[in-house]
Amino acid sequence: PQKIIIDTDPGQDDAVAILLALASPELEVLGIVAVAGNVPLALTQVNARKVVELSGCDVPVFAGCDRPLSRDLVTAEHVHGKTGLDGIALPEPSLPLQPVHGVDFIIDTLRAEAAGTVTLVPIGPLTNIAEAFRRAPDIIGRVQQIVLMGGAYFEVGNITPAAEFNIYVDPEAAAEVFAAGVPLVVMPLDVTHKALTDRAWVEAMRALPGRCGPAVAGWTDFFERFDTAKYGSLGAPLHDPCTIAWLLQPDLFQGRDINVEIETKGRWTTGMTVADWWRVSGRAPNALFLKDVDRDALFALLLERIARLP
Ligand code: BDR
Ligand code: CA
Repeated sequence: PQKIIIDTDPGQDDAVAILLALASPELEVLGIVAVAGNVPLALTQVNARKVVELSGCDVPVFAGCDRPLSRDLVTAEHVHGKTGLDGIALPEPSLPLQPVHGVDFIIDTLRAEAAGTVTLVPIGPLTNIAEAFRRAPDIIGRVQQIVLMGGAYFEVGNITPAAEFNIYVDPEAAAEVFAAGVPLVVMPLDVTHKALTDRAWVEAMRALPGRCGPAVAGWTDFFERFDTAKYGSLGAPLHDPCTIAWLLQPDLFQGRDINVEIETKGRWTTGMTVADWWRVSGRAPNALFLKDVDRDALFALLLERIARLP
């Protein structure tokens, strides 16, 4: 199986991404690293452990950075609720938090595994990844690829008019990761705002015999309220699961190899992914920037996989 490390700030959609990965035999999740983002680290690391425990899998969970590289943390309780994972009540996890710092886990794992065999899947702010590259530049060339949720082009921003949340929270980290020279796959809002749940799918999830399907239904019901109010769209956007789905079935997505730069000093545009979709800059491509998804096939995949969990 493909070895991955998930770097995450759960987050209801992060939680669905984690479950999708753990339900998929094509992937071997080496570890899950929490980062500060949707809510502070003290909550995201607990949420990550709750989700792993729910899945019935045994995967180590680490706590990474509790704040962006050089800015104050911006959170999104207005979207994800006070706990970050509002929607269903889950017990306090008995799965322990690993005693090793999440950044050290990323560094140690990339050094221990064969070069080019570990994919990083960041679905929150890019702080942990940038910090690992700063502390251990030798690991950069060992990363197989980074498949991340972040950014926007045609859809522009969701936290400011110009910026998507994950990039906006730590633009310096994003700039360093995008400049690192690692093969990048970027899942922007252009894709994820097409990945909207619908009623029939949510009810099919809720009707699954195990505990994970109803949990996904509870999370997306909560998450949906925000987007329905904001965009007038029906359904919750399953941003983060798109990264895992790309690893499983890349043919569900279409995009282009283009140059993407991160704005860190904009007056209005800090955190913007300046995506050269029309290739007007002459700058070399550094990312596969996705734009479209086969929405029905994505949701069929999600249902089929979550149904495999307890
Ligand atoms: C991203 O921000 C978070 O709120 C979601 O979990 C997702 O990773 C979407 O902009
Ligand atoms: Ca997230």
